[in-house]
Amino acid sequence: MRMVDIISKKRDGGELTKDEIYFFVNGYTNGTIPDYQVSALTMAIYFKDMTERERADLTMAMVKSGETVDLSQIEGIKVDKHSTGGVGDTTTLVLAPLVAALGVPVAKMSGRGLGHTGGTIDKLESISGFNVALTKEKFVELVNRNKVAVVGQTGNLTPADKKLYALRDVTGSVESIPLIASSIMSKKIAAGADAIVLDVKTGAGAFMKTEKDAEELAHAMVKIGNNVGRKTMAVISDMSQPLGFAVGNALEVKEAIDTLKGQGPEDLTELVLTLGSQMVMLAKKANTLEEAKEKLVEVIKSGKALEKFKLFLESQGGDSSIVDNPEKLPQSKYKIDVLAKESGFVSNIVADEIGIAAMLLGAGRATKEDTVDLAVGLVLNKKVGDKVQKDEPIVTIYSNREDVEEVKNKIYKSIAISKKAVRPVLIHKIITE
Ligand code: URA
Ligand code: CA
Repeated sequence: MRMVDIISKKRDGGELTKDEIYFFVNGYTNGTIPDYQVSALTMAIYFKDMTERERADLTMAMVKSGETVDLSQIEGIKVDKHSTGGVGDTTTLVLAPLVAALGVPVAKMSGRGLGHTGGTIDKLESISGFNVALTKEKFVELVNRNKVAVVGQTGNLTPADKKLYALRDVTGSVESIPLIASSIMSKKIAAGADAIVLDVKTGAGAFMKTEKDAEELAHAMVKIGNNVGRKTMAVISDMSQPLGFAVGNALEVKEAIDTLKGQGPEDLTELVLTLGSQMVMLAKKANTLEEAKEKLVEVIKSGKALEKFKLFLESQGGDSSIVDNPEKLPQSKYKIDVLAKESGFVSNIVADEIGIAAMLLGAGRATKEDTVDLAVGLVLNKKVGDKVQKDEPIVTIYSNREDVEEVKNKIYKSIAISKKAVRPVLIHKIITE
């Protein structure tokens, strides 16, 4: 088999065989096929697309290019949740203990990653003592005992995806639905999930800016999952404004605790209940979505979800007293209110601009080497649709620097106030097969 023939075939709109797909994925991973040939092929895929069968084969070829996580020692149906990423997205911290309280096993592998705020691992590390470096045995034991554990990324998972993604990034072929969908799904499948709930974000703060693109990606991923034997569904949720009020690591931990107490922001609560009901259904812990949602609301009301969160923290060495005493979380030196310049209704809060403002304070990473300041970030006191009076604090800045002029200006530029009320939409669509 020759790589040049595979490139030409795809260039002319042909369908690659399973053997051809494995040939290029394996050859690229082990270094026998050079970057320039693979970049020609990814560009051909960008223009000519891939069939459903090709997408499933590409996904599995990337899964098999490296190690995979074996969760077979964990009882029950392991359902994983994946978000395509947004601003102030605290859902994992709430969802993990919440569905675990209903007996759904949550064996979560999380990363630090790049972005406006840290990843789930950074957020958990704002809790004193919390340890994410568990052995495989300890991880399995904790999930079997408590139904929830979170471990930092280990092992050489999907090396083909790592190389391909880095190559696409510098050759203009990131924005290809078959390549994005197989990239994301390969990582979830390698991490050992039996079933997958996808939270595909849309809007200014999302990877997919338009609803049409988000929907196309969601359909592609749901198809791949189901074609390779993992029950998969997707929720398309709004990321035109940040999710919840808090954007920042320790601030989001506090927000997660409030939500587990039933006192969280309305949008975060709704999203958690929507994603959670789907997870409970896939894990076969309820017969209908309505029943699943009722059970989730019940474990929040009864305090069982919060108890599960405490148990989860203690089992991994974390100080669970932060649940009742959130002032024990890292605190910023300064707390500065940003006052509304006019009265009216908040009509827009540009999510990615708010994310960049949080990053300017030190809440996120621009490069892998950056360190994250866990204490800093922003809290939105108003969300889209809310009424606001001139001089009311619209956002509160949590900073370790006194000079926050640049951040303030960014916030003013990203928030629009209008005379007419607007209604935000959170859940745009639910996609099953
Ligand atoms: N995120 C991924 O993991 N892969 C892509 O290709 C794009 C976004
Ligand atoms: Ca938030």
